[in-house]
Amino acid sequence: MVSGVAWAGAAFVLAIVVVPLLARHGGDGAGRWLGLVARRAGVLVAVSAPLTILSGIYLFSALHAHDDSAGGSVLKAGAAAALLAAALGVLVSRPAGRKLQQLGQAAQAAAATSDSARQLAALRMRAAVSARVAAALLGVTVLAMGTFRYASALI
Ligand code: HEM
Repeated sequence: MVSGVAWAGAAFVLAIVVVPLLARHGGDGAGRWLGLVARRAGVLVAVSAPLTILSGIYLFSALHAHDDSAGGSVLKAGAAAALLAAALGVLVSRPAGRKLQQLGQAAQAAAATSDSARQLAALRMRAAVSARVAAALLGVTVLAMGTFRYASALI
């Protein structure tokens, strides 16, 4: 599943590379560039996640609809983790990212007030936590997808 690999890969890069760098160097000019990287990664996720979910649902209904084996349960858990990660992205990460982008532009245009600085920090925190949780959930998905075929033999 190429789209699944693209999705999980982008989520890992966001959580492991972009978010920690933003926290450390966001203030000293790197914020704008890291924001551009995060936006590109966000576009990749917005394309690859729906493709993965649609193809996964099709494969699931065609091949595993009545799969009650241990492997089937591992597969279901992995799919559920991916769906949770997608919901988190739509409900938390995407709105926070968009708001950050708008605020970043406004802060450059005018001197940032302490109020908008506080709002920026809260949004950064929300984006960072949701990126980490989504990456952890997708880690569960990747492990489940890679191992479900062997689960019945092992358990
Ligand atoms: C990060 C996201 C995902 C990745 C990286 C991923 C990766 C994979 C890989 C590598 C396989 C092949 C495993 C094998 O043949 O041993 C697979 C199979 C499968 N995936 Fe995913 N997957 C993802 C998300 C999903 C989602 C969201 C669903 C369902 C909603 C799903 C449903 C399935 C099903 C049903 C199969 C089994 C197909 C078969 O029996 O041949 N996947 N996945």
